[in-house]
Amino acid sequence: MERTFIIIKPDAVQRGLVGEIIGRFERRGLKLSAMKFLQVDDALARQHYAVHAERPFFGGLISYITSSPVVALVMEGTNAIAVVRQTVGATKPAEAAPGTIRADFGLEIGRNLVHASDGPETAAFEIDLWFGDDLVAWPRANDAWIFE
Ligand code: RTP
Ligand code: MG
Repeated sequence: MERTFIIIKPDAVQRGLVGEIIGRFERRGLKLSAMKFLQVDDALARQHYAVHAERPFFGGLISYITSSPVVALVMEGTNAIAVVRQTVGATKPAEAAPGTIRADFGLEIGRNLVHASDGPETAAFEIDLWFGDDLVAWPRANDAWIFE
């Protein structure tokens, strides 16, 4: 079982897409491990996106993620990291596959609705940064009908 970290970004929250987005992950079979609604401050934004600190879009990215509240969540399941990235779609919504969140709801890279961890090390770093040990391990009633 693998865990991944997801942010429902400010544009998705403002547009009333929180339920729609979480619903897509739930319907796929992924299981919630943690969730919170928060206003991201500058320090957390810079830590989270530290790998992009030297990129020209960094300033805009920090402004975007701190512009309005977000929902942060951890979901778990078989191959959760890759499965969530696939459900989210390519970084540029215009290039994302139809049926993905970014293609179905987005047009521009700077308003691409969702963040998802891109690998095991990033997932571990991001889960620790945003939640520490504050995760819930729980038996879900239909686990046996989703996880073989
Ligand atoms: P994310 O980290 O948000 O899940 O997105 P990603 O892996 O698909 O893309 P990444 O390369 O990690 O970029 C992080 C976020 O920075 C913004 N971005 N803007 N203007 C640009 O050229 C540009 N490139 C990236 C996007 O919001 C992207 O999601
Ligand atoms: Mg990324």
